[in-house]
Amino acid sequence: MIEKLIQEMIAYDKGDPKRVGHFLKVYGYAKTIGRLEEIPAPTQEILEAAAVTHDVGIRASIQKYGSDAGSYQQIEGPPIAKTMLQKLQFPQGMTERVCYLISRHHTYEKIDGLDYQILVEADFLVNIHENQMKKTEIETIRSKIFRTEAGIRFLELLYA
Ligand SMILES: [Fe+2]
Repeated sequence: MIEKLIQEMIAYDKGDPKRVGHFLKVYGYAKTIGRLEEIPAPTQEILEAAAVTHDVGIRASIQKYGSDAGSYQQIEGPPIAKTMLQKLQFPQGMTERVCYLISRHHTYEKIDGLDYQILVEADFLVNIHENQMKKTEIETIRSKIFRTEAGIRFLELLYA
């Protein structure tokens, strides 16, 4: 199922290997952290689907507002993901949670589950490098956002 979703997302982001590379990296970290933390299987499935689709709103945000700001993506992403997940016959409850996570993945208050927590950590593990974040920013992110053992371990191994 996840492979079909990845295929769909590559088709959606066609001609843009950078964006595809981004979500595949986030998916790789999210999947690995979820497994190491031994989260329940349904939560793991939601996490993986959310990691693959989390930035699906970027293209629509740029077209509509001329900006890829997180606040726009969070509005534009969920309906696109919903159509995609429904087409692939993902269960309704799972689709709703994935869309919720997409709608909040740049919001760091009220993180209400391990799927949400790990998605945010995985996105930072990739964005710290892609956006060349500074040591001081990384320190703040570590103390304010990172919570899982595996996520913290990866952050330290990569950026300490
Ligand atoms: Fe991202």
